[in-house]
Order: sequence, then structure tokens, then C-alpha cells
Amino acid sequence: MEQYNFTYNDIHNTIRAAAEKIKASGFEPDYLLAIGGGGLIPARIMRTYINKPILTVSLTRYSDEVGTAPSDTPIKLQWLEPDTNLDGKKVLVVDEVDDERTTLEFTLNHLFEKHAETEFAAFVVHNKLKEKKGILPEKLSHFFTGEDIHDYWINYAWDAEDIDQFGKK
Ligand code: G4P
Ligand code: MG
Repeated sequence: MEQYNFTYNDIHNTIRAAAEKIKASGFEPDYLLAIGGGGLIPARIMRTYINKPILTVSLTRYSDEVGTAPSDTPIKLQWLEPDTNLDGKKVLVVDEVDDERTTLEFTLNHLFEKHAETEFAAFVVHNKLKEKKGILPEKLSHFFTGEDIHDYWINYAWDAEDIDQFGKK
């Protein structure tokens, strides 16, 4: 199976270019919101270019049990405090990859449900060009992608066991 290896520098450069596109669009977020774990490092890199505080939510589709298939429904691990008031604010939701779009749909729907008076946009570093299972909510004001890529498996630098050898093969 064909794969991509994206180094830290690749990811950083992609985010820098995306930040320019986001600024050019006129969308000026008050907060970045990282979807953990994959969105954490991209959100921090984005903050270098769009210097706003980072909020986080965390969910997963993979249980710790060995041999279990990913669940179709993401599992909420951690969310915003119930008293977090985002009324009138603009929030850029950040994740590393839009694969089947399940995570993004789930996260955005939950955010809109509790924060109806908030303008949400989303940014993913990599968008796989494929048929998506999830749907982006109509209320999403922008969907920004760093790179639109083939439906290959991506190896991210942060998953490397040996970072010095990463991307060399
Ligand atoms: P999406 O909404 O962003 O499309 O995510 P989707 O539910 O389709 O993806 C399910 C999980 O699979 C996500 O991890 C996503 O990061 C991971 N994934 C999909 N394609 C790739 C890939 O090519 N390479 C890597 N390394 N991961 C991929 P997750 O459950 O959100 O876990 P976490 O890492 O964010 O904690
Ligand atoms: Mg994720």
C-alpha cells in the first residue's frame, strides 16, 4: 500500500501556507480548538501563525483492547467545560487528517449543539480525497485544508519510534 511520510518540517510548512489562506479568507478566529490527539500538534503549530489561545476536546475511535476494530461512533474522552461561553466568538477547529470525516462530523455537531451562537470553521492539515462517511454541518463557515491528498496511509512524524530514521526509507 502506498504511504506518505510527513516530517515535522512538511507539516509545519503546510500549516504556515494554510494560515495565509485562512487570513486571506477574512476568517479571524478568537480561539483555536484542537481535536486530540491528532489535532494537538497542528493546533500548536497554527498558533505560531494565528496567535490565539488553544482549547481542546478529545475523542477516539480506537479502544485500547487488542484486536478490536475501530468503533463507527467516536468516543468522547474530554470536552469543553459546561460553562465555557463562546457566544459571538469565532473558533477554528483543528485536526490532522480528514479521512472518513466521522470524527469531524461528530465533533462539529456536538460543538454546534452547545454553542449555537458561535461561528465555527475547520482546518485539517491533510484531506484525503475519497468518499466521506461524515457530513460537514451546513453552519460551518469555512473548511480549510492544508493539502488535498490521495487516500494513502499517512505516517506522521510524531508517531515515529525512531525520529532520526523517519522518512529516510
Ligand atoms: P476524520 O473525521 O478526521 O476523517 O477521522 P476519521 O474518523 O475518519 O479517522 C479515524 C482515525 O483514523 C483518526 O484517529 C485519524 O487520525 C486516523 N487516521 C485516518 N487516516 C490516517 C492516516 O492515514 N494516518 C494516520 N496516522 N492516522 C489516520 P483518532 O481516532 O482521531 O485518533 P487520535 O490519533 O486523534 O487520537
Ligand atoms: Mg484524531
